[in-house]
Amino acid sequence: MARQLLATKSIAELHEQESTGNQLRRALTATQLTLLGIGGIIGTGIFVLTGVAAANNAGPALPLSFIVAGLGCTFAGLCYAEFAAMIPVSGSAYSYSYATLGEGIAWFIGWNLILEYLFAVATVSVGWSGYVVSLLDQWHLHIPDALSHAPLDQGADALHLRFTGAIINLPAILIVAAIATICYIGIKQSAVFNSVIVTIKVTVIVLFILFGVSYINTDNWHPFVPPNTGTWFVYGPSGILGAAGVIFFAYIGFDAISTAAQESKNPQRDLPIGILASLIICTILYVIVSAVLTGMVSYKELNVSAPVALALDKYPGLHWLGGWVKLGAIFGMTSVMLVMTIAQARIFFAMARDGLLPTFFGRVHPRFRTPSTGTVVTGVSAAVIGGLFPVGLLGHLVSIGTLAAFVTVCIGVLVLRQTRPDLPRPFRAPWPWFTCIAGALVCGLMMVSLGPATWVRLVVWTVIGALVYVLYGYQHSCLRTPAGGAAASPRPA
Ligand code: ALA
Repeated sequence: MARQLLATKSIAELHEQESTGNQLRRALTATQLTLLGIGGIIGTGIFVLTGVAAANNAGPALPLSFIVAGLGCTFAGLCYAEFAAMIPVSGSAYSYSYATLGEGIAWFIGWNLILEYLFAVATVSVGWSGYVVSLLDQWHLHIPDALSHAPLDQGADALHLRFTGAIINLPAILIVAAIATICYIGIKQSAVFNSVIVTIKVTVIVLFILFGVSYINTDNWHPFVPPNTGTWFVYGPSGILGAAGVIFFAYIGFDAISTAAQESKNPQRDLPIGILASLIICTILYVIVSAVLTGMVSYKELNVSAPVALALDKYPGLHWLGGWVKLGAIFGMTSVMLVMTIAQARIFFAMARDGLLPTFFGRVHPRFRTPSTGTVVTGVSAAVIGGLFPVGLLGHLVSIGTLAAFVTVCIGVLVLRQTRPDLPRPFRAPWPWFTCIAGALVCGLMMVSLGPATWVRLVVWTVIGALVYVLYGYQHSCLRTPAGGAAASPRPA
């Protein structure tokens, strides 16, 4: 078994697999990939989590937290770009680690990517539901609490669950069903839908910056780094790191572009462009928004679920923008769910192709040429999770799973530079020793800041994953079948 855990798939074979059999439609350009990245990135993080991170961790130094998280993501993004250009196959970090670090790590990454994408769809659907219910309330359309809240929540010890009395979060279920339907119909339709939404949400954010900037009271920026309270991650320098861990969620999504390699027209050129361009654009927007926000309102008042709307409500001259921001947030979260659903279905597709999940996950729709079964499974699972659980419980779990994948990708790039320096690399991460190690370190530190309860959940998720691997993946892996056995090699070829 140890031999198989370390066995890698040859890069040549990954390419061959992509060019035969189930073919997805190559429809995406560099611009569409960048828009997909922005579509996946801007959502719950900036519209919901910024306030909590400022109030509880960083204070006015929140822009520094965005820079720290953005740096970690940029290092990881450079590594993703190198891999994505070198191995432009669907499956993202999962496929990269299969070619470099062995099947065992690949399974671990694939399982964590499920934690990232599938659970992110569920998490964002809950945030979406909250915003929609509040907007409908504003228009005097009331949805009963029992039908718009999670029936389960964390108990006092954060590890056990308790019943809340609600029945189901119906809006969360309905939006996931609608998004999954769009993804089922086609990648091109999804990309067009996404481009429209991205335009709306970026416009709303730019309007917030342009109009909010004249309402900044610089007194709100003093002290810029409030003194630490004596508790780790509550203000002071460690608070900046703590907030980076919380708002890291806001950056999740740029990596999702690399799952669409097989649907990209020119993946070797366009994937690095899409990943890095979307990351840079969002980092700039985030740093400016957080500076404007903490300048308009004292960080002490920001511990709310709609901080941007709160800042606008505070100034009568900006009331007109409040409703637009809510709409922008709703649209923003919609495209996040769309991109994450696309990504998750393609992770299922890649894992099924390799025999680690049942083959029906890899089925491609004969007419729409989308991974149809994977999309349905993603939609149903995310709807159930989003319908039952609250946003707080899900969000940290998504972040830790994603960070684990980022750390592994950073290490994987360095490993492959040493073991296979000869492989053609259309895009090379600059200063690999620095970039890869700094990426793994910054992302690792953000993992530490997420706290013990999240780590316990990561361990439980990993144990469940290990059982699925031992009971199914190991038995059915293409490395053990006669056809795939030839590909099993301790080194990529
Ligand atoms: N980055 C995405 C969001 O903030 C997951 O909603």
